[in-house]
Amino acid sequence: KKVVLAYSGGLDTSVILRWLIETYDCEVIAFSADIGQEEELDTIEEKALKTGASKVYIDDLREPFIRDYVFPAFRANVVYEGQYLLGTSIARPLIARRQIEIANIEGADAVSHGATGKGNDQVRFELGYYALKPDIKIIAPWRIWDLTSRTALMAFAEKFGIEVLSTRKKPYSTDRNMLHISYEGGILEDPWQPPPEDIFTLTVSPKDAPDTAEEIEITFDQGDPTAVNGRAMSPATLFRELNRLGGKHGIGRADIVENRFVGMKSRGVYETPGGTILRAAHMAMESITMDREVMHLRDGLMPRYAEMIYNGFWFSPERELMQKLIDESQRNVSGVVRLSLYKGNCTVLGRKSDYSLYSEAFATFEDDTVYRQGDAEGFIKLNALRLRIREMNRKQA
Ligand code: ARG
Ligand code: SIN
Repeated sequence: KKVVLAYSGGLDTSVILRWLIETYDCEVIAFSADIGQEEELDTIEEKALKTGASKVYIDDLREPFIRDYVFPAFRANVVYEGQYLLGTSIARPLIARRQIEIANIEGADAVSHGATGKGNDQVRFELGYYALKPDIKIIAPWRIWDLTSRTALMAFAEKFGIEVLSTRKKPYSTDRNMLHISYEGGILEDPWQPPPEDIFTLTVSPKDAPDTAEEIEITFDQGDPTAVNGRAMSPATLFRELNRLGGKHGIGRADIVENRFVGMKSRGVYETPGGTILRAAHMAMESITMDREVMHLRDGLMPRYAEMIYNGFWFSPERELMQKLIDESQRNVSGVVRLSLYKGNCTVLGRKSDYSLYSEAFATFEDDTVYRQGDAEGFIKLNALRLRIREMNRKQA
């Protein structure tokens, strides 16, 4: 028996690695994806081998993460329940896909992950696994083992010589990648209590941000950003730059109570600096290049699309169908947006495009020749017809 484990190098997945070997007498292949979590990846291989892994895969997936997952979703201005930019949700299918690829290469019959039985992540991982390899066996230790307390976990680690880092465990759970950091649980569980300032990692407090605004320009090509301040960059490089700028100006913090797919409400604090800037800029780009009805149709579907990603249905016919519609809507979303970054805010200053539908001739308040104001009379009268009939009936009754 061979198992491919999504391994982070932390205490939990190290214990899982050893527990799989002890419980199933199996071979474990450890897999870590670098998606910008900024953890020490160079020591991971050694750690995994020491804990008992037979082989270790460490893959730099930062470019595909931004190019094939973040950008496609941001073409829709995606946001869950009005506030969550899906930083964790969008990354899970990428990890699942690579994990299944490795299972195929290695002829493994099972995959395993460290998500708990109470969250969204287990659903996202496992829907991905099943969608890509229908007969895969899944081992979710948190749902089956008896190491349910911190003490039991530590005792297990000690027994098998698993290194418990001297740095004390943070009093909350986090998940970091290039798109965001999330903070949940522990001291954040009381939704009345504000997050302590010192948890924030990617952004300064808006109070401490520079007193002068910074102007930037983002160039778009068919809905995707391609350059910042005129400098062309790869997707991941560009995103890193937006994160740096957003972080410096305290942009992209959110404190939310969200509805998990499994049913409970959950309080989460997030930092999504680059994503927040990108979303504002992208909407400004669309505002001059996108047809009204196309925009309103897409906007109506966006919450459904966000829900598909949040609930873990990235590899599903409905999400693929939506993606085609979204991508088609982006054909002319090209040009440049100018923004000002200032103390937690990201304000649009200007937008221009070769494909602009904005017509000064039609929009002007000055005297014009292209638009006949008299046409509006009939337009309004016919639109008012059923409203008038309704009121006439009311009066009769
Ligand atoms: N609540 C967010 C989501 O469902 C973040 C989850 C964070 N996951 C984690 N393993 N810490 O997408
Ligand atoms: C977990 O339960 O493993 C993390 C939180 C979540 O998946 O929603």
